[in-house]
Amino acid sequence: MASDKTPTKKRILSGVQPSGIQHLGNYFGAMKNHVAMQDSGFESFIFIADLHSLTTVRDPQKLRELIISLALDYLALGLDPDKTIFFRQSDVPEHTELTWILDCVTPVSMLEQAHAYKDAVAKGLKDATAGLFNYPVLMAVDILIYKPDLVPVGKDQKQHVEIARDLAGKFNRVYGDVFKLPEPYISKDVGFIIGTDGENKMSKSYGNVINFFTDEKTIKKQVMGIKTDSTPLESPKDPDKDAVFKFYTYFADEEEQNSLAEKYRAGGFGYGDAKKLLLEKILDHFKPFRQKREELKNNLDYVKSVLKSGADRAREIAAKTTQEVREAVGLNLP
Ligand code: TRP
Repeated sequence: MASDKTPTKKRILSGVQPSGIQHLGNYFGAMKNHVAMQDSGFESFIFIADLHSLTTVRDPQKLRELIISLALDYLALGLDPDKTIFFRQSDVPEHTELTWILDCVTPVSMLEQAHAYKDAVAKGLKDATAGLFNYPVLMAVDILIYKPDLVPVGKDQKQHVEIARDLAGKFNRVYGDVFKLPEPYISKDVGFIIGTDGENKMSKSYGNVINFFTDEKTIKKQVMGIKTDSTPLESPKDPDKDAVFKFYTYFADEEEQNSLAEKYRAGGFGYGDAKKLLLEKILDHFKPFRQKREELKNNLDYVKSVLKSGADRAREIAAKTTQEVREAVGLNLP
């Protein structure tokens, strides 16, 4: 049945956990590329990993808000539901069904090494749930059920894609070839986005983020809070050692970058001045997206219908794989 495993167009798939207000690290590290996938010649899938959020979110109202918020973010950023199969993980119940079946070929020792669980325990988490422990199995299913060719993820998720690959291999060895072995795809030009502390990766847990869909006042405060050194205003400054300049490079073309670098080197130009230029750039860049998001916010029925029809399309594929798995393991009765 090789034709089942080789869809004519290559498939690219990624998932995002709804976990709060998105920041520039999420944008440049993932979201922007996720949207661009739809014009890459691949058949593109993006889903909201709401089942994964249950490992951390226990407030139902909050969870609903997080899900809608993430859907709004993606649609506002230009994700086109005609080009990308965009859906919610929990709308495709086959994910949970296959998770159990895959659980039954998953060694506990493999999950003990997985970092989501391992890090949480290392940080002193005493009452880790089975959900957190099993997180990589659900993620493996998210991937394997669609038989994608590429799975673009951040470095921190690479291990999880490798686990998916291992589990696919294990399952195939026991039951015959059902799953396609996925490849993690780590975009080289991304690296990591520095936080406003100028030191750590931008992350909500470090409190060093710049958001782009919050109110302008907050964004301004975040930009003005970027840590800089204490070189006095009149002295020359090294653009390559400064976080404000670094952020500026994400938004400005080469000419603009050179012009700002000159100002730094000439002296008489303060970090506050640079921050103002950066803020302007950020607000300019996100202006159309922010407008679009406001429009969509007033049309939640449309947003929900997008997710629903995305799920219908995803489910066709998921159901097919699930049927193959049921047959492979002997859950079908002839
Ligand atoms: N665990 C991923 C994250 O936190 C989200 C995710 C869930 C995912 N399932 C996936 C990513 C499948 C890629 C493929 O970022």
